[in-house]
Amino acid sequence: MVLYGEGDMEPAAVNAGLNRRLSAALDDMESGGVLKKLQHILGQQGPVVELEGYGPTVNLCSNNYLGLCNRPEVVEAVRDGAAKYGAGTSSVRFICGTFDIHRALEDRIADFLETEAALTFTSCWNANEGLFAPLLGPEDALISDELNHASIIDGVRLCKADRHIYRHMDVGSLEDVLKQTSGARHRLVVTDGVFSMEGEIAPLPDIRGLCDRYDAILAVDDSHATGVLGDTGRGTPEHFGMHGEIDIITSTLGKALGGMAGGFIASSRAVIDYLTQRSRTQLFTNAIAPHSASGALAAIDVLESHPELVGRLRDNTAYFRRELTALGYAPIEGDTPIVPVIIGETAAAIELSTRLLDEGVFVIGFGFPVVPHGEARIRCQISAGHDTAQLDLALAALQKVGSSLGVI
Ligand SMILES: Cc1ncc(COP(=O)(O)O)c(C=O)c1O
Repeated sequence: MVLYGEGDMEPAAVNAGLNRRLSAALDDMESGGVLKKLQHILGQQGPVVELEGYGPTVNLCSNNYLGLCNRPEVVEAVRDGAAKYGAGTSSVRFICGTFDIHRALEDRIADFLETEAALTFTSCWNANEGLFAPLLGPEDALISDELNHASIIDGVRLCKADRHIYRHMDVGSLEDVLKQTSGARHRLVVTDGVFSMEGEIAPLPDIRGLCDRYDAILAVDDSHATGVLGDTGRGTPEHFGMHGEIDIITSTLGKALGGMAGGFIASSRAVIDYLTQRSRTQLFTNAIAPHSASGALAAIDVLESHPELVGRLRDNTAYFRRELTALGYAPIEGDTPIVPVIIGETAAAIELSTRLLDEGVFVIGFGFPVVPHGEARIRCQISAGHDTAQLDLALAALQKVGSSLGVI
């Protein structure tokens, strides 16, 4: 690794000892077959992408659940946003980084999710990282599912509240923690709405019941549910008929809602106004680019005027899950468009995904530290943008490669 100087200067090597240690670690990853290799897409994100070195491949690994990344209305809105507002904000929100389109998007998100207010961040990572520390102090308890997304884990680490982990989706384990924390001023339970590596939906009605019984606050990260679950794509609250029952919703603009960078928190007016004053990932980093806000607004428009996209996503998911299982695969069960197949060792999952690329199918193998040791997997993700021929091509490749590697 080298850092480049200016002009004609020779590239400068960073500290030789650090370089040596990192290079050795990278060599180990390479020889162990667990080195992640970045694939370069040469055009637009979509159900089929042009991949450098491979040509057109069926894309089974994007979060472009509704196919809005290259939807003309959304792309046009991004272009219009850039034409009107320029390239970016050059400022955090509270200095001179707040544009009228931020307010329009936040009002729209609050309206869409039926909350009092919403606040955007440059990503959902930043939303989760900036959420807990301002709201809770040492006299409070923060209670988190053991498989929550890394951004929640890091947000929890930055908070001075007493931290507790409950077993994954285990309401008995959650209740034990709630009983142990009766002395806390506030208790906040946080869970992914849909777990990104498993595709499972958190048992929110049960969790809400416990939160009511123990007077706890419920926060849900709906990044893989917004635009995906519920008849009109309003996420887990709609899926469970729990409108207005989630105290704090965080989510992303980087997946179903057009794939731009951006995230948000939707909650009560008091929570949002307080975060505006105190959240560090709001106060010390740029606002989301106005053209991204413009694109996200258009994506919500498309979703609201085309709820059939959510139905198509559901149909594609059901088809793919059924046919994959018929081939002999055993995906983690569920109804979401995240369809993971546990392979075991990281090298085996990466080999499967590499062989699938040779067959024109883009699906990524995940290993440690993204998922626990020994639970490496490929994660197929379905989009409303896929047509049946594309899904069939992917299934045929999964059959061919899976049987040659002894996975099925
Ligand atoms: C559950 C969950 N939360 C948060 C994030 C982060 O979202 P963003 O890309 O907007 O930072 C992700 C993305 O991988 C996610 O899966």
